Amino acid sequence: MEDRIAIIMAAGVSSRMNTQLPKVLHEVCGRPMLAYVLDACRAAGVGRILVVVGYGREQVIERYADAKDVTFVEQKEQRGTGHAVMCCVGNLADFRGSVLVLCGDAPLIRSETLVTLLDKHRAERAAVTLATTVLENPFGYGRILRDNYGNIQGIVEENDCTADQKRIREVNPSYYCFDSRVLLEALDGITPDNAKNEYYLTDALRLSIARGHKVVAITAVPPEDCMGVNNRRQLSQVSKIMQERIQARLMDNGVTIVDPPNTWIDVRAEIGQDTVIEPFSYIHGHVRVGRNCRIGPFAYLRDNTVLEDDVVLGVFTEVKESVLEEGVRARHHSYLGDARIGRNVNVGAGSITANYDGRDILRTEIGPDSFIGSGAVLIAPLSLGPRSHVRPGSVISQDQAGELGEENSK
Ligand code: UD1
Ligand code: CA
Repeated sequence: MEDRIAIIMAAGVSSRMNTQLPKVLHEVCGRPMLAYVLDACRAAGVGRILVVVGYGREQVIERYADAKDVTFVEQKEQRGTGHAVMCCVGNLADFRGSVLVLCGDAPLIRSETLVTLLDKHRAERAAVTLATTVLENPFGYGRILRDNYGNIQGIVEENDCTADQKRIREVNPSYYCFDSRVLLEALDGITPDNAKNEYYLTDALRLSIARGHKVVAITAVPPEDCMGVNNRRQLSQVSKIMQERIQARLMDNGVTIVDPPNTWIDVRAEIGQDTVIEPFSYIHGHVRVGRNCRIGPFAYLRDNTVLEDDVVLGVFTEVKESVLEEGVRARHHSYLGDARIGRNVNVGAGSITANYDGRDILRTEIGPDSFIGSGAVLIAPLSLGPRSHVRPGSVISQDQAGELGEENSK
């Protein structure tokens, strides 16, 4: 049986987001917040994950229905983080080992931090281990109380803090590791006697300490990672940090990003070495870009697009669900949707695929070495053979076998 399990709390109503969508499904750089937390757990070797759902639970469950390592636990009424974990008691009944407890609304979490937490927990033979962080501005977070020897005494929430406690800058980012038996025992003792009248998971620490268990707090969470998303401003701040991480990873892999703050790249995008991304380019969804490509300025790549090596996409060019084979050029003002464009095809300025007839999305195929003159409208479904030559300003709706000389006329 596995020796580590994670509980991700994701049932909150998220009133501060002012939303119909469950908070953890709000996207950060192209993926729901919850996806990042799940992946951090997996990368830290957690084999089984309990996700506590409540508000909008059908949507969360539907989204992750295929995840074999995830079990959903329903919290019918949102009565606090302690109550969220109490809902998992049935799922923990015959489990012995370490239980990570995390929030679904903090997507900047890193697996390395979880590994540090789990290792420390084991090395110290602790009953509870908590990873903390020190913030310039601790407002809104639970504060870590320590005695004169530095031993943790408990956590106090913002609303329950005295003026002195408010000045404590060490906070609780909600990264807990519990011995399963100690957790079950502590949950029994949590009561809702606090400013919000909720069952606080943070009380589990004080209770465990009072019972004589070894509780350890390590300052292990980088301040940047700690931000939870409670409102849309924080969503945008977290997204900005995530975007910087995505771009840093790509640059380390050999991609030139000319103007990082004016470029947006989805976390799912893969981009090859020596490709240059010019400013104001927007890459959204599962996009694969090869080596030595030049993209932008003002290019828009959408979901399920593949650019092979040496492709040039210029200003105001949009590509969606298409494969552009090696050496394709589309330098100005084009829309290429649901298309396969063969090797070395030149797409002239302002040429587009008309891929939607008002009812269906239809495909376009253009053979290798073709020339598409400026301002052509290629009406799908359409197949042009190799070395086709489309005159500028043409409207093409008939398939062509291809080969130069068989010029299409208007
Ligand atoms: C919580 C912590 C606080 C910590 C902060 C870190 C408590 C009491 N406080 O405060 O010490 O500094 O996180 O971000 O734990 N949730 C449920 N069911 C509930 C209530 C909440 O599943 O009944 C989930 C929420 O969806 C969210 C997470 O638990 O993902 C945290 O809840 P939230 O209300 O955001 O807690 P904070 O006030 O941020
Ligand atoms: Ca929060």
